[in-house]
Amino acid sequence: MHSTSPSFQDDIVHQNQRRTQNHSQRSLPSQPPSISFSDNDYLGLSRHPSVLESVTKAVQNFGTSARAARLLAGSSPIHRQLEKSLASWKSTEQALIFSAGYLTPLGVIPALLGPQDTVVLERNAHSCLFDGAKLSGARIRVFHRQDTKELQKVLTSTTQLHPSGKVLLVVESLHSMDGDWAPLLEIIQLKNQAGAWLLLDEAHANGICGPAGAGLAAQLNCTHQIDIQMGTLGKTLGSSGGFVAASDFIINHLLNESRTFLFGTALSPASASAALTSLEIVRSTEGDTLRQTLQQNIAQFTAAYPSPLSGPIHLIACRANSAALSASASLRNLGIDVPAIRSPTVPEGSARLRLSFSSRHTQNDIQTLASALSTLPIPSFS
Ligand SMILES: Cc1ncc(COP(=O)(O)O)c(C=O)c1O
Repeated sequence: MHSTSPSFQDDIVHQNQRRTQNHSQRSLPSQPPSISFSDNDYLGLSRHPSVLESVTKAVQNFGTSARAARLLAGSSPIHRQLEKSLASWKSTEQALIFSAGYLTPLGVIPALLGPQDTVVLERNAHSCLFDGAKLSGARIRVFHRQDTKELQKVLTSTTQLHPSGKVLLVVESLHSMDGDWAPLLEIIQLKNQAGAWLLLDEAHANGICGPAGAGLAAQLNCTHQIDIQMGTLGKTLGSSGGFVAASDFIINHLLNESRTFLFGTALSPASASAALTSLEIVRSTEGDTLRQTLQQNIAQFTAAYPSPLSGPIHLIACRANSAALSASASLRNLGIDVPAIRSPTVPEGSARLRLSFSSRHTQNDIQTLASALSTLPIPSFS
């Protein structure tokens, strides 16, 4: 007897059709246009000569693969050096690297909490933070990241309803899709009042702000109040991978309990080496110069195209998926790569162009972008 439920094939074909109809179907881009405003290489380090040279040396010395998980044969001196350098940059006792930024909260959050606990997340948190929270089995409560009153209510009701459970608050310092900064000092005050822990994801802020580019917490001089600092190696650090930096006892626990750390092949030594060399540059006076150039590029853009945002991520609201797709395609025809960000990455009706700036852009690149945008039928922020 045949089942009445839809077949696998029918179901998948139907899902593809539905995405095509509402302009949310994705496909891999073909050859990218020459000027990219779509990557997260904010200081251009993925092509820095010293980073390239360090990768060649690492491959010669350690081969192309870590060959095993870290606790087996996969730990090289470069991994350990990188962790030491990350911990010193973040002013913590230790750091631990993961083979992808995405896999970092998927390992960390379930190692810290279980079904009796609560994760408090920003409503628009990155998928890896939501996925890590879901995997932990903990209760999930959400708040709007700029609304500290809402956060206070969520924290108060959580601690009243579940007084014996742990509470982990998870915040992105610079938001990946909205480009705004979290009100970190107020958030810290609230998490302290509630006795919660804070995991701060500085994926997009690392390298671009704070002394030695150490991020928003370093800029606001509150690093010591953050329980777990997280970042990726795949954005400003020009490599791939992720990390957390924290006290000895936390890292020792994560090293034993984080499944995405324990059970996968380690980051390749070449990637660890690229991140290590990038980090040395980020912390040097050359890093300061690159950050200044980035700021000048952002200032040049916002002078031509006013925006309330001050970081390297800028948005142009298009609302409908189809409008964002068509604006992105028009720019692509002019040789400019600006992605259309659509639902479900952002809420329905808030599709946008997401522009990311880098120190590597020339004045001419920014001018070309601003001129191209002015020809599109989309509103500017003013
Ligand atoms: C806020 C945030 N956290 C984590 C990640 C995951 O990092 P990765 O891309 O290095 O895997 C991203 C990626 O875009 C991100 O935006």
